[in-house]
Amino acid sequence: MHTFDAVVIGAGAAGLFCAGMAGQRGLRVLLIDHAEKVAEKIRISGGGRCNFTNRDAGPANFLSANPHFCRSALARYTPQDFIGLVQRHRIPFHEKHKGQLFCDESSDEIIQMLLRECEAGGVARWQPCSVNAISDGFVLDTSRGMVRARSVVIATGGLSIPKIGATDFGYRIAKQFGHKLIDTRPALVPLTFDAGQWAPFVDLSGLSLEARVTTGEGKSKGEFLEDLLFTHRGLSGPAILQISSFWSPGTPIRLDLAPAQDLQADLAAAKNASKRKLGNELAEILPRRLAQTWLAGKPDLAEKPMPELRDRDLQALATGLQRWELTPSGTEGYKKAEVTAGGVDTRELSSQTLESQKTAGLYFIGEVVDVTGWLGGYNFQWAWASAAACAQAL
Ligand code: FDA
Repeated sequence: MHTFDAVVIGAGAAGLFCAGMAGQRGLRVLLIDHAEKVAEKIRISGGGRCNFTNRDAGPANFLSANPHFCRSALARYTPQDFIGLVQRHRIPFHEKHKGQLFCDESSDEIIQMLLRECEAGGVARWQPCSVNAISDGFVLDTSRGMVRARSVVIATGGLSIPKIGATDFGYRIAKQFGHKLIDTRPALVPLTFDAGQWAPFVDLSGLSLEARVTTGEGKSKGEFLEDLLFTHRGLSGPAILQISSFWSPGTPIRLDLAPAQDLQADLAAAKNASKRKLGNELAEILPRRLAQTWLAGKPDLAEKPMPELRDRDLQALATGLQRWELTPSGTEGYKKAEVTAGGVDTRELSSQTLESQKTAGLYFIGEVVDVTGWLGGYNFQWAWASAAACAQAL
C-alpha cells in the first residue's frame, strides 16, 4: 500500500497546478492521470498558444447555478498572481483582445511551467494510471496498486472533447459520495440549424463579420459583441461560442449583423442620395456575399434603383438584418464544445477551499465543478484559482 497526504486525480490545468502548490507546501502528493500525456487541453487551447488568463476576470464572467460561489477563490488567486508566475518562468506573452493573454510561442510553455512547479514540490506522477474505485477513508484501487491518502482531489474536468481523454469520472465520484449534480451541457460551442432552415445561408459558409448577439431575458440574458462565423451547419465564431453558454434549447437568439450602424437611417439617406440598385447599395454597407444572399429571394427589391424603393421595404430590410431572430436546432455537442456547463453542485462545496461538505478530505476543482467561464481565458483562471484555494487547505 502506497501512502500520500493527497492524491490529485486528473493532470490537467487544475490538477497540475494544485499538485505543484500542495507539494511545495511540504505535502506528499500523488498526481494520477489515465492519459499518456498531461494537460492535452492546455496544449490545444487558444489555437496552440493557450489563452492562459484574462486580465479582467471577475465573478461576472462566470455562469453557475450559484453565481456567488466563485468569488472567494477568484479573489484570493487573481489573474495578476498567475501572470506573476508566468513572468517568473520567463514565458513571453501578449494581450490579444479584451484582456485575453496568450503565449507568444506555444501552449507547451505553460505545460512545462506547471510540470516544473510539480517537480519543485516533489510530486509523484503516475501516468497512464486508472482509478478503479475510491472507498470511504480514501483507499484508492488503481491500475498501479492500492493507495491510501488523507485527501483526494478530483480534477478530472468536464465532458468536452472525449477523444483527448474527457470522462465522466468526476461526476461519478461526486454521486458516489452523495453530491448533487447540475445537469451538464456543451458550452462555448457552435450552434446548428435544421438543414431546411439553414439552406439559404449555406453559401455564406466561411464568412466572418462582427455582430451583436443576444439571447434570454432578465438575469439569464446574454449579450456579446464579437465576430460571428457562418458554417455549413450553422453559426460559430466567438460571438456564438459566448452566447451558446446562455442559450436554452427551443429558444431564439437575436443577431444584429451591422452593429456599428443604423441601417434604417443609412438606407433612407441612400434613397435620397444614390441612384444605384438596392443590391449594389447594400453590398457597400455589408459584406457583398451577405448582401447578395440576403436579397437572393427578393429579386424585385434587389434590382430596384434606390429612389424607387418604398420606405417600408427599406425599414423591413433594416429590421431583418439588425434584429434577425432565429432558433437553433441544437449545438455541435461535446466533440466541439470548449467546456462543459453544469457539474458538481457548488451548494455542497466550501467556496473557501472547494472541500465537500459531505465528506471531509474530498475536494472538487476546475471544470468538473458547476462554474463555467466565458470565452477568453476565464476557464483557465477558474482552474488556477480553484486549485490554489484547495492546495492551501489540503
Ligand atoms: P482538464 O480537462 O484540463 O483536465 C482533466 C484531466 O483529467 C485530463 O488530463 C484528463 O486526461 C484527466 N482525466 C479525465 N478522466 C480521468 C479519469 N477517469 N482518470 C484519470 N484521469 C482522468 N480555456 C481558457 O481559459 N483559455 C483557452 O484558450 C481555452 N481554449 C480551449 C480550447 C479547446 C479546444 C478546449 C476543448 C478548451 C479550451 N479551454 C480554454 C477550456 C480549458 O481547457 C478547460 O476549462 C480547462 O482545461 C479545465 O481544466 P481542468 O483541469 O478542470 O480539466
